[in-house]
Amino acid sequence: MSTFTAPKGTYDLLPTVNSAAYLAIRERLAAPLRRAGYGYVETPVFEDVKLFSRGVGESTDIVTKEMFTLARRPESSEDLALRPEGTASVVRATLEANLHKLGNLPVKLWYSGNFYRYERPQKGRYRQFSQVGAEALGAEDPALDAELIILADDAFRSLGLREYKLLLNSLGDQQCRPVYRAALVEFLAGLDLDEDTRRRAGINPLRVLDDKREAVQAQLVDAPKLRDYLCEECKAYDEKVRELLTAAGVAFVDDPKLVRGLDYYTRTTFEFVHGGLGSQSAIGGGGRYDGLSEMLGGPALPSVGWGLGVDRTFLALEAEGIELDLPATTEVYAVALGEEAKNVLFAKTVELRRAGVATDLAFGVKSIKNAMKSANRSGARFALIAGDRDLAEGVVQLKDMESGEQTPVSLEALVTTLKEKQL
Ligand code: HAM
Repeated sequence: MSTFTAPKGTYDLLPTVNSAAYLAIRERLAAPLRRAGYGYVETPVFEDVKLFSRGVGESTDIVTKEMFTLARRPESSEDLALRPEGTASVVRATLEANLHKLGNLPVKLWYSGNFYRYERPQKGRYRQFSQVGAEALGAEDPALDAELIILADDAFRSLGLREYKLLLNSLGDQQCRPVYRAALVEFLAGLDLDEDTRRRAGINPLRVLDDKREAVQAQLVDAPKLRDYLCEECKAYDEKVRELLTAAGVAFVDDPKLVRGLDYYTRTTFEFVHGGLGSQSAIGGGGRYDGLSEMLGGPALPSVGWGLGVDRTFLALEAEGIELDLPATTEVYAVALGEEAKNVLFAKTVELRRAGVATDLAFGVKSIKNAMKSANRSGARFALIAGDRDLAEGVVQLKDMESGEQTPVSLEALVTTLKEKQL
């Protein structure tokens, strides 16, 4: 019988390879949010498929090609899909619980979880991936856009990342975007585009600007630029965001073609791109989505947010050769020589763990040689070794795994001795 492997476009997180680093990345990406008043939110990994078609947009690849829809049960009329992103779900949850009516606006929320897109897998692009995200709902204030961008930048910096750029653009609002849209439609009508692209241009012409193919990009060189069409309010808003970023020491690059892969954006949009990742270079992105709540049947709730990619942040750390300073999982490793010693060390292991010292014990091991090998592999700073003779004397041997030095420590004093070593 053949064995199973992880489904295409997915991979396992394992203690021997990457799982500790992933946990640390999630923690560090979220830490700045916790210090800035964002509360943790968790929503289901599947939702009504219409939430995404209406929210993320009918012209996006995410909705038209990449949605994992779930087989409908005969007794249910709901069509469900695995979430391709978090923003639509967070807006849905906010409206459902009336969070926007309960207290101060903006409602500030953060999340961490897995998302699903049926993409063609390659390095940095997976069918299940992980994001840490943040959404601030119910305030139109350039300081809020700036706050979020600064928090993302702080998060990446706290991991030691340096070789990334922040791309920034404004997509305008319902006043100025239609004027630009009309100009772009006219321009696109004069181009020789394939049928798919033409259809996309019909639904959302701005998405054509996001086309990754060089031949299409070559045709777009003279396309009208949104920047030239922004209304006074959008221009002033954008300038304020820039001013605040500059004052906070966050560098950015203008990217007039940055439209992003989701339809809900208005005004500020941004992406963090890393130089060491090849074609899948976006380690995070987001923007303002002032109309999404209304698109989902809610009241006007101007909002802004981002999602940072955990998988790609891991690859970016690798590309920059950054080793995260991960705490040792085991500090003390106990090795018993004989049945009686095993009982005593088992009890001491429990006691040490309860006192906060990360301790492991050799289980089911037959020889001292193998047990010491396990102690070595565990990465523990100290091994505790005890045989019958030690126990008769009321001691255990404490071996410093780095220096090799071994000293007897009385059983009674063991916990305090190890605590004093500041484990
Ligand atoms: P997004 O740009 O689609 O935005 O995704 C955010 C980040 O998730 C990307 O920059 C990338 O690092 C990571 N990512 C996306 N797709 C994949 C994939 N297939 N494999 C690996 N990593 C991936 C959003 O999802 C928006 N919800 C962000 C947002 C929040 N906008 C406003 N609020």
